[in-house]
Amino acid sequence: PRVWTIVPAAGVGARMRADRPKPYLRLGDRFLIDLTLERLLKVGRIDTIYLALHPDDRWWGNTESASNGRIVPFTGGAERDDSVRAGLDQFRGRASPLDWVLVHDVARPCVREADIDSLLDELAENRVGGLLGAPLTDTIKEVGADGAVKATADRSRLWRALTPQVFRFEVLDRALQSARENSAKITDEASAVELLGLQPRLVAGCADNIKVTVPEDLALAAWILRGH
Ligand code: C5P
Repeated sequence: PRVWTIVPAAGVGARMRADRPKPYLRLGDRFLIDLTLERLLKVGRIDTIYLALHPDDRWWGNTESASNGRIVPFTGGAERDDSVRAGLDQFRGRASPLDWVLVHDVARPCVREADIDSLLDELAENRVGGLLGAPLTDTIKEVGADGAVKATADRSRLWRALTPQVFRFEVLDRALQSARENSAKITDEASAVELLGLQPRLVAGCADNIKVTVPEDLALAAWILRGH
């Protein structure tokens, strides 16, 4: 089966409190989006990247990646899952049901090629798909609106969901369609697939595959990349 790759980069990145959308923040002298796309393009099984951009994007043309013929930009949607669904429409007529769709956040520039390879290898015989994850280090509390702790989860069974997340075309298409029809609030592809009653496989990846979300994450990501 082929691997089709979607990078959702159409978010506004409100939590960064920056003067520009998150993909166009700089790590050293490079744009975040260029670093993330460069990593993905090094993976042997990734050919073309379908890139969801914000409808009002006016930065893309200034990136190094804009002139790369292996990247196909398209207009994303209001929520992350709308952007991914629009991505599926880019190759719907050409993909077969068992092809893989790999989705990777633009905000994760520190992903390692080896982790993407091991995710795809582990899933080879899987009918559904799966995602990279990392064990939690903090203890997690469920807290009520009044600030009172209601419960403590068993940390040994909890993982952080990272990206890439990789699903069979037919499974992801059905999952995102169904999530939309049920107005389900989903923050990753796997949760949409879980709502169908299917069980994505979690494959352990490096914990330093962080999502750049708040301002201090930029410096952390730059530091991580220096060590790679
Ligand atoms: O908000 P969060 O950081 O979880 O967003 C994850 C990814 O989804 C980011 O790469 C962001 O650009 C993307 N996104 C998108 N379209 C949206 C909202 C988010 O492509 N409407």
